Amino acid sequence: MSAISKLTLTLGSTIRLSSGYELPVVGLGVYQNDDCSPACLAALKHGYRHIDSARMYKNEEEVGKSVRESGIARGDVFVTSKVNNPEHGYETALAAVDDSLNKFGFEYIDLMLIHSPLSDKERRLQTWKGLIEAKKQGKVRTIGVSNYGPRHLEEIREAGLETPSVNQVELHPLCQQKEIVEYCTKHGIIVEAYSPLIRGKWTDKIVEIAKKPARVISNANIFDFEISAEDMEAINALDRGKDGAVTWNPVDAP
Ligand SMILES: NC(=O)c1ccc[n+]([C@@H]2O[C@H](COP(=O)([O-])OP(=O)(O)OC[C@H]3O[C@@H](n4cnc5c(N)ncnc54)[C@H](OP(=O)(O)O)[C@@H]3O)[C@@H](O)[C@H]2O)c1
Repeated sequence: MSAISKLTLTLGSTIRLSSGYELPVVGLGVYQNDDCSPACLAALKHGYRHIDSARMYKNEEEVGKSVRESGIARGDVFVTSKVNNPEHGYETALAAVDDSLNKFGFEYIDLMLIHSPLSDKERRLQTWKGLIEAKKQGKVRTIGVSNYGPRHLEEIREAGLETPSVNQVELHPLCQQKEIVEYCTKHGIIVEAYSPLIRGKWTDKIVEIAKKPARVISNANIFDFEISAEDMEAINALDRGKDGAVTWNPVDAP
């Protein structure tokens, strides 16, 4: 990572996925938020166009309802869900997609991920084949994985199956997942960071660097900041690998 100069990104900025669809770079995560409607409505009203849900979070109904209530066209909001770990398998993954469509009340899901590699190689591959089929049927626009380490991604490549468009992993200064980022960059997989705010466990160095861009506060604009090369080096040095993770981070699952 090198210095970050003032960015021209906004909440509306997107990144192109290998599926051809555009992923808004900032999303609202709704983990541990059963009644996420107020948060979803506020986010949509203030410019967010991306909501990250999961079957595990049990709030797809509220997400779907909020998108409709917001008055924003369905096509202008990007919604993610994730196949839960006990649902690994071909038929179960297809059934999970159908159930999520019903719960959201949508005709398609923008991005469906495999929530984690926590099963075994054969079931992971069957789940992936299920998502490939769901995409073929037009029920899901883009498919990807979450918490996949290079070995899990290699399984897919070795099986000659379609490459995931996205790998969502825990990613922040204390857990930089360099090997995963390198693998994904090489294979055209977009790395999506979860728990990017380290669940509030900021170190003194992060607080010190964050205090420097005072305009962030005055403009309430998350992209209106600069980070010098020196500070980026200090952030790079914070990586504690697995010890820096603040979530389950099951990227080494057997
Ligand atoms: N794929 C996966 O396995 C996986 C795993 C974990 C998370 N995720 C996704 O990532 C999303 C976010 O992750 P996360 O909730 O674990 O961690 P996070 O975003 O790193 O941290 C959330 C915490 O940051 C605090 N916070 C947020 N904005 C703040 C601000 N401006 N000032 C001070 N504190 C602030 C919140 O405090 P308050 O509670 O006070 O608001 C909350 O406790 C989830 O909702 C989910 O969509 C995915």
